[in-house]
Amino acid sequence: MKVINIGSLNLDYVYHVDHIIRPGETESAGDRNVFLGGKGINQSMALAKAGADVYHGGLIGEDGQPFLDACAEYGVHADYIRKIAVPTGHTIIQVDKNAQNSILLYGGANQMLTEEFVDEILADFEKGDILLLQNEVNLLPYIVDQAYEKGLQIALNPSPFNEKLEAVDMKKISIFLLNEVEGGQITGLTDPDEVLEKMREMFPHAKIVLTLGKDGAKYAEGDQVYEQPIFPVKAVDTTAAGDTFTGYFLAGLMEGMPIPEILKMSAKASSIAVTRNGAVPSIPYRSEVMEALKQK
Ligand code: RIB
Repeated sequence: MKVINIGSLNLDYVYHVDHIIRPGETESAGDRNVFLGGKGINQSMALAKAGADVYHGGLIGEDGQPFLDACAEYGVHADYIRKIAVPTGHTIIQVDKNAQNSILLYGGANQMLTEEFVDEILADFEKGDILLLQNEVNLLPYIVDQAYEKGLQIALNPSPFNEKLEAVDMKKISIFLLNEVEGGQITGLTDPDEVLEKMREMFPHAKIVLTLGKDGAKYAEGDQVYEQPIFPVKAVDTTAAGDTFTGYFLAGLMEGMPIPEILKMSAKASSIAVTRNGAVPSIPYRSEVMEALKQK
């Protein structure tokens, strides 16, 4: 079974600040670093570092060569990453003294996917393979429809949640990986248990992974429900914690691991990621995650 992730690649410009800037305020940043990021490629890197056979599809500009180098280094198949004459997507990320962030996203090349390119990518995948998507590229409704026709299992991380998702036929999604805010936006509810219950009602055949920040994660599929607490750590940067969880969760699912084991591995991987700066560089390798699990 293969996984193809059609998703974003962003250059993350990360600034450490005392607090997230308020409207009208000017504040000096402590430092600035440029990291490889983007929900799409973060999740592909997490899949690869967890040991999965992952292909990434997406668009970068001439400034995006470091992504191809990183794919080669970490074992993500980059066959479907193309360079175009539009700058790579980028973000401006503020990280405050409590490790919380705010992200300003410029789509750039990520928003230039064409139906022809999507068809070309999907032609190499077949029934049973997994397609992973987030909401940082264009053409999501088209991609979902085409992949569903081909019998691919579609995993959706509906992040960032916005009105573009209204055009996606959510009934075609096999696996939802979302946080409590996104779950609230889909269901109109706020209590995590009610969100999960409503998601089960709305999508009775889907696997649902709901991450809850410091309250851990919940999983539901049919009558089965599991919970996983966090592994408490001193966080320095929470960017890509959710992406790490998503990549590890899918990798475990592809291996057929029991759900409680997958949840534990994914929570441990995220807990390591938040102790490091940046997105792609913060994602741990499987060996490190398994070693850390033995210690606690
Ligand atoms: O999920 C974290 C990611 O969101 C960052 O790497 C940034 O690029 C934004 O897409």
